[in-house]
Amino acid sequence: MILIKLGGSIITNKKKPLSPRKKTIENIAKNLKKIDEPLIIVHGGGSYGHYWSVKYDMHTQPRKYDTHGVSIVKNSMIELNKIILDSLLKNKLNPYCLPPTDFMTGNKPMSKKIKEIEKIARSGLIPITFGDALWYGQNKTYILSGDKIMTYLSKILRPRLSIFALNEDGLYSDLKSKKLIYELKSEKPTISENTMDVTGGMTRKVQEASKIARMGISVFFVNGNKPERIVKAVKNRKFEGTLFRGKRNA
Ligand code: IPE
Repeated sequence: MILIKLGGSIITNKKKPLSPRKKTIENIAKNLKKIDEPLIIVHGGGSYGHYWSVKYDMHTQPRKYDTHGVSIVKNSMIELNKIILDSLLKNKLNPYCLPPTDFMTGNKPMSKKIKEIEKIARSGLIPITFGDALWYGQNKTYILSGDKIMTYLSKILRPRLSIFALNEDGLYSDLKSKKLIYELKSEKPTISENTMDVTGGMTRKVQEASKIARMGISVFFVNGNKPERIVKAVKNRKFEGTLFRGKRNA
């Protein structure tokens, strides 16, 4: 089984509020069609969820955020999710929409529900979930990042590979020359920050990817603009991106 996160930076234009990158989504869907292993998809918020979370000052810590903001963030994620669902359907894939409320209670993943997701994936459907604004309890809500969902799903389902599709080739050892790191050995690479993200941008992704790799599951950062690289990684295990090799006790 393969777990794949479509980052907000690849499915939306992060520089422009509420702008999906429909052609890119379409191209990804076409390539996912070539994979014949069970798949689970998670997607991010990009210029949908992040845009509104910033406007309403909502973050990952559970607090009493503006309730109208909660509704708007949720609504925007449904809108973005629908665009992705439509694109998958158009390409004859069988997405099965699963908002995170289906398998989260407060900020805890429900392992029984998550194990059910695997059965759904093995039946030929493609479970698809996303980062979202979630109810925490005691009138508090929080923003759950799709990257965190990747960690929860990886821990319980132990996919063969966890893939993060980004708007870059992978991680660079040097931002100016864009020198690609093919395999990440160090646990704490230096990362430049992106201010638009309420969930921590690239830093969060690297943190979650390192956690997943420490569970013994390999993680691969790949350019979603070149989705054939996703197919190659899955089929031929040729990693044209950054690989975090799964290592226990690393
Ligand atoms: C964010 O999900 C969801 C919301 C802001 C509601 P992610 O944190 O996974 O989004 P990206 O991939 O970084 O855009």
